[in-house]
Amino acid sequence: MLITHIKQLVQVEEEAKKAVQGSNMAILPSIQNAFLLIENDQIKDFGEMKDCPSYDGETINAEGRMVFPSWCDSHTHIVYAGSREGEFVDRIKGLTYEEIAERGGGILNSAKRLQNTSEDDLFEQAKARLAEVINYGTGAIEVKSGYGLTVESELKMLRVIQRLKAISPIPIKATFLGAHAVPSEYKDNRAGYIDLLIQEMLPQIAKENLAEYCDVFCDKGFFTVEETDKILKAGLEYGLKPKIHANELANSGGVQVGVANNALSVDHLERMGTEEIKVLMDSYTMPTMLPSCAFFLSIDYAPARQMIAAGLPVALATDYNPGSTPSGRMPFVISLACIKMKMTPEEAINAATINGAYAMELTDSHGSIMKGKKANVFITKPIPSIAFIPYSFGSDLIETVILNGKIWEGNFNDEL
Ligand code: NIG
Ligand code: FE
Repeated sequence: MLITHIKQLVQVEEEAKKAVQGSNMAILPSIQNAFLLIENDQIKDFGEMKDCPSYDGETINAEGRMVFPSWCDSHTHIVYAGSREGEFVDRIKGLTYEEIAERGGGILNSAKRLQNTSEDDLFEQAKARLAEVINYGTGAIEVKSGYGLTVESELKMLRVIQRLKAISPIPIKATFLGAHAVPSEYKDNRAGYIDLLIQEMLPQIAKENLAEYCDVFCDKGFFTVEETDKILKAGLEYGLKPKIHANELANSGGVQVGVANNALSVDHLERMGTEEIKVLMDSYTMPTMLPSCAFFLSIDYAPARQMIAAGLPVALATDYNPGSTPSGRMPFVISLACIKMKMTPEEAINAATINGAYAMELTDSHGSIMKGKKANVFITKPIPSIAFIPYSFGSDLIETVILNGKIWEGNFNDEL
């Protein structure tokens, strides 16, 4: 496939970068009046129109339109049952997220629903969400368990993720989040639940190869630093790298314990101090911000400017889940990053592409327009500039989604 007359081809790379950080986040390399040549499922060539090769195959004239690498959404919970708009109304009336959780709502509410939902039903619900986010331009995604909270239901969730992987046109990374909340049966026996995670869930997950990463909700009212450390170390023994929820509700020590265990990413970060930023410097860990969660819960936004000024890289992800972020719209996340966290459009797009790919270990194949990378890209509607993407928040600016070198028509592999 050849795409010609592209107004701007965004996020091009000659050589693969692992991630972009600090002041480099403001640089978004792009080519005006460009072509993009795709062969099979890969990017074969790109450049200025004056160098465009002649080509007999399928050709798209993208005049007035821009081409971007697909978004890399490195933090989601798209496998869940039902919805929680009742709690949304409770929050409007004054309850906090923590108060709802303390009353047995929140994650435990979703767990109850999920335990009573069949694997097939869950799969269908998650598949619809996957199609939805692909239409918003997502071309690689991470999905977590964590609404099972029993051996059986955590495995059920992870098997649903495995089935999604089999039919998905975009790569999916699976994360085990058994430590999302302590189930009520273990309220007075937290150690018992942690033993269950370590002794029963993890070995079975490893045996069936159901996850790449291990997550813990390390925060006030959820899991402590000591508990997190123990679970992450157990996960590492089975080859699951840490990728954790940290510092959403308090300066929980989550960032520190994540970095100490070489976490691939620490996510949320609405509560950050100078100590947390210091610990992240020179680490391998990607600080990942989820501004649509802060928006939906009306909590503080992560201090993006402070982190970038310190020289850190940052990634952006949706956190799509039924409690804190019932939305999987990456373009809205990018708008919020600009509007609420004062990131420039270039910084936000870097955070949502190459740095998101890093947080899923996919930079070799995703996150930029580079020869040999996967042809997961989208063509916008006619737009005047890159900044128009975050500026026109809530609008749908994507005209064509291309995955593995083919136009996405909304069909999964099991429907073809
Ligand atoms: O990332 N913070 C923890 N977990 C999810 C929300 C879970 C829920 O409320 O269902 C999050 O925001
Ligand atoms: Fe989350």
